[in-house]
Amino acid sequence: MGILIEKAAQKAVTADIIFLTKSSTDIADLGLEKQELDFAKREIKEGKEVVEINRFKSRVFIVQFKSKGATLNKNEAARAMGNTALLMVNKAKIEKVTVSSVGFSKAHAIAFLEGMMLGNYQFLKYKTGDNKKVNSLKKILVFYGDISKEDIVELEIITKAVYSTRDMVNEPDSYMTAVQLAEEAKTLGKDAGAKVEVFNKKKIESLKMGGLLAVNRGSIDPPTFTIYEWKPKNAINTKPYIFVGKGVVYDTGGLSLKPSNFMDTMKCDMAGAAAVIGGMYAISKAKLPVYVIGMIPATDNRPDGNAYTPGDVVTMFDGSTVEVLNTDAEGRMILADALSYAKKYDPELVVDMATLTGAAARAIGTQAMVGMKVKSDKEFDNISKSGDRVHERIVEFPMWDEYAEQIKSEIADRKNIGGAEAGAITAGKFLEHFTDYPYIHLDIAGPAFLSKASSYRTVGGSGVGTRLFYDFIKSKVK
Ligand code: BES
Ligand code: ZN
Ligand code: ZN
Repeated sequence: MGILIEKAAQKAVTADIIFLTKSSTDIADLGLEKQELDFAKREIKEGKEVVEINRFKSRVFIVQFKSKGATLNKNEAARAMGNTALLMVNKAKIEKVTVSSVGFSKAHAIAFLEGMMLGNYQFLKYKTGDNKKVNSLKKILVFYGDISKEDIVELEIITKAVYSTRDMVNEPDSYMTAVQLAEEAKTLGKDAGAKVEVFNKKKIESLKMGGLLAVNRGSIDPPTFTIYEWKPKNAINTKPYIFVGKGVVYDTGGLSLKPSNFMDTMKCDMAGAAAVIGGMYAISKAKLPVYVIGMIPATDNRPDGNAYTPGDVVTMFDGSTVEVLNTDAEGRMILADALSYAKKYDPELVVDMATLTGAAARAIGTQAMVGMKVKSDKEFDNISKSGDRVHERIVEFPMWDEYAEQIKSEIADRKNIGGAEAGAITAGKFLEHFTDYPYIHLDIAGPAFLSKASSYRTVGGSGVGTRLFYDFIKSKVK
C-alpha cells in the first residue's frame, strides 16, 4: 500500500510540516518569522486553501479551515483540504510529512488525514519505466494528542478498503475474471478473519441460479457466487444485514452489443461487488460487533456461441420466469438470483449496490447514487445520513407500483427491460420482485468510475460505496 500513517511522539520542528489552523491567531502562534507570517496572512486573505513556505531545508504548509460559503459539509471540506495539501506535498517531492493540528477539531483533522490518504492512491500496475511516476509521499506523522492509536488504525483500515475497491475496479477484465474477483474476496476475508465461501459453476448449476447462468452462457469463463460472512460472537443483532454487489466483470452488452464508446469503461461493471467486498473487509477488519453478510454474483457478459438471446425465457432461482428482451440488462438477472438467495437468512435488511443503469447516471451524474426503498423507511434514512457523512450521497427515486406495468411480459412473469422511460426505476421494480424483506437498492452507475479525478476521488474506480457501507454498519454500534 502506498502510504503509512502513525502518531508522532513530538513535533519535529525542522521537518516538513502541515499546520491545521482555524484563525489568524492560530497562525500568529505558529512561531513563524515576521516575513513568513506576513506572507501567510496575505495568501490566506487572497483565498489560498493551503499556504506553502519554502525554507529550502524544509517546507511549512499552513491550512486555515474555512467553511463559510462552502456547499460541502465541514468534514468533506476538510477532506478536500487534505487532498489539496497532498498534491502540494507530492509536487515538492516530500516523502515524510508531519501533520500538526493547532485549530482543527479532532473530527476535522481526521477528515483532513482521510483526504490525504485517499488522494494518494495510484494504480500503476500497468505502467513501466519512466511512465511509472510514483507519488513521493510515503509517510504521515500525526502530531495531535486527541487523535488516538485506534483512530489511526481505523484510518488505515478505511484506506486499505478503499484502495482495494479501486484496485479491483481498475483491473482490466483480462485479469479480473469472476474467479479472480472471488479470490480477492478470499484474500481480504483471510486478512480480516472473516469467513468467505465461493460457489463454483457446478454448485451454481445445482442451485439453479438461472439468471446468473443465463448471463454466463456467452462466456468461456465460469461464474462465481461469493458469500463473505462476518458473524462476530459479540454481534448486537441476530438477523444479518446483507449487502449484495453486482459483479459483472465486463459488460459487452452480450448479443445486444454495446457500441464501443459505451463499452470501453465496462470493466467497472463490478464496482458494486468491489464496494461490497471493500466494505465487508473494513467492517470485519475493524471487528465491528455486527452480523453482516456480503454476497457477490459474478460473471462477464459476452456474445459468444451459446449466449442468451433477446427473446429467450429464463427460469430464475426463485422459480419465476423472465423474458429477456435485451441481454444488456444483465445486472438485474444476476442480482435477482442473489436477492432471492438472501431470503434464506431472514435478513434484517438487504442493500444491493450496482452499476445498473445508464438512466441513473444520466439523471444525476457522478455526484450521487440513486436509492430506492421497500419497507425500510428508517434504514433508508440511516443510510442516507451515512451517505451525507462520507459524501457518497443518495438521491431517492420512487418505487411506485405503476412503474411495474412497464415490465409486464406477454409470455413470462416479467421482462427484463421497461422501455425508454424511467429506466433506473423500472430496474429497481424488477429487483423488488425477488425480495420479501426490508430492502434498499442503490444504483451507482454515475459515481462508480470517473473520467478525471474529483478531489480525493482519484481517476478511474472511485471506490464509492465502501465507506458508505462501513459508516452505515458503524452507526449501528453505539
Ligand atoms: N452496466 C450497464 C449500466 C451502466 C451504464 C453502468 C453506464 C455504468 C455506466 C447495464 O448493464 C446496462 O447496460 N444497462 C442498460 C439497461 C437497458 C438495456 C434496459 C442501460 O442502462 O442502457
Ligand atoms: Zn448491460
Ligand atoms: Zn451491466
